Amino acid sequence: MTDVASQGSTPADDRDILTNRQGHPVYDNQNQRTVGSRGPATLENYQFLEKVSHFDRERIPERVVHARGAVAYGYFEATGKWGDEPIERYTRAKLFAEAGKRTDLAVRFSTVIGGRDSSEAARDPRGFAIKFYTEDGNWDLVGNNLGVFFIRDAIKFPDVIHSLKPDPVTFRQEPARIFDFMSQTPEATHMLVNLFSPRGIPANYRTQQGFGVNTYKWVNAEGETHLVKYHWIPKAGVASLTEADAAAIQANDLGHASKDLYEHIERGDFPEWELRVQMMSDDEHPELNFDPLDDTKVWPENEFPPKVVGRMVLDRNVSNHFAENEQISFGTGVLVDGLDFSDDKMLVGRTFSYSDTQRYRVGPNYLQLPVNQAKNARVSTNQQGGQMQYSVDNTGSNPHVNYEPSITGGLREAEYPTHDEQGPEIHGRLTRKRIDRTNDYEQAGQRYQLMDQWEKDDLVANLVANISEATREVQERMVWHFFMADDELGARVGEGLGISADDVRGLEPLASQTLSEEEDQRRANLG
Ligand code: HEM
Repeated sequence: MTDVASQGSTPADDRDILTNRQGHPVYDNQNQRTVGSRGPATLENYQFLEKVSHFDRERIPERVVHARGAVAYGYFEATGKWGDEPIERYTRAKLFAEAGKRTDLAVRFSTVIGGRDSSEAARDPRGFAIKFYTEDGNWDLVGNNLGVFFIRDAIKFPDVIHSLKPDPVTFRQEPARIFDFMSQTPEATHMLVNLFSPRGIPANYRTQQGFGVNTYKWVNAEGETHLVKYHWIPKAGVASLTEADAAAIQANDLGHASKDLYEHIERGDFPEWELRVQMMSDDEHPELNFDPLDDTKVWPENEFPPKVVGRMVLDRNVSNHFAENEQISFGTGVLVDGLDFSDDKMLVGRTFSYSDTQRYRVGPNYLQLPVNQAKNARVSTNQQGGQMQYSVDNTGSNPHVNYEPSITGGLREAEYPTHDEQGPEIHGRLTRKRIDRTNDYEQAGQRYQLMDQWEKDDLVANLVANISEATREVQERMVWHFFMADDELGARVGEGLGISADDVRGLEPLASQTLSEEEDQRRANLG
């Protein structure tokens, strides 16, 4: 790392001259202009006014979620294959096409709930967002480290986040509020079993997995589509912190994970991940007891093996936190040819939300900033104006023509790479309904069963400590959910809270859930 203490200790005469933003040299940066040495200040003092008024505007709104993060740059290197098969069978996306092909990228790792100076040792999902600067324009893959999420419909996102964020009165994160919401949200059980296990506090950003979480599609040259899920596997292995480890770290340092990433890259110890992809045919899969478009579920790896498609290496740090971290803007709608959305009800909501917040948070021309530009593709658009327009993108044959169509010049439409139709036909009537195969508990139970004993113990202790702050009614409902997932988990969390299976056996399912036959039987025989 650069030794900050040595910078500037012996100023050399060839240093650049300080100027203001107009390029005027600054002769005195210590004293403002006044009438006499004690006298009133003069209002025409441009240098002072520019300096202070720019300072007054230094902050932009922090991200409403994922405010604290670390950015690094690197590359993606493709294998040209999905496992052993040529990848072109499944996707025509150019970045995956050839073995050894490299694509520049930027990554931002983040925590979710805290503000931009908050602790990086918090129990919180970690954001794992990648911007691939491909020759066909940018592709953003915006995921997390846990593989699933709390909810499956985007309309619930503001509520889940409000419950997790600080109380609007006390401004403290309150477990009583979190579990009030979660107790009424059965689909969150799987996420909670992950989040309150040791995986809920990754040791740092290098030793965590990443997942696209939502279901996407791949499209091949014939317009055939497949459903896919993305997994990033760290070469350095996975490491997590217990509550006690995390407390010790954050007593001294709120930014240990950013520091760890920065220092490893500075000394040439470049973090690396393998990208693996799970795939299934693009249909409803009635044979499965979950819906492949449900982001509270993982796809069983024995049935849908994740296969390697490439690797990511991070080999460069940012040179300015604000320009490259605070202003970098990812979104789930940012896809390139050969990659597409699925009808996952979270994904559509996310796709609206990201660019919407970035137009507000960064500004309408956020895509002109260097870190967000499609720097390996050509951008030519008739979009114009807006605050802080910087680039002139209408580079067509006639600069007077900023509209399309025209026979006198300007820009023209591209031709479809193959054709404009793809995927299965969709029929249905407009409705507001939850999906049929909710199956909220089975994978949560399996996740618990797969844990080592110390992980189970840690999970139970963390759940008991937090849920004990909620009301008795909320505690009972949470214990009921855990019994529905796994008898031992329910019994152990219940024991910690002084609640037995007998206490909760009579609870009715929530109005917001429909139990399957198996789940109803389980409810009757709880414990
Ligand atoms: C950031 C919305 C679900 C991962 C954000 C931001 C918003 C948002 C508004 C701030 C973006 C910015 O200011 O630039 C939503 C909505 C969701 C949702 C509406 C559900 C409907 C998810 C899920 C994941 C996720 C399921 C993980 C798979 C992220 C990440 C960031 C982020 C990684 C930080 C991006 C960065 O580093 O700049 N989300 N989100 N979000 N979200 Fe979501």
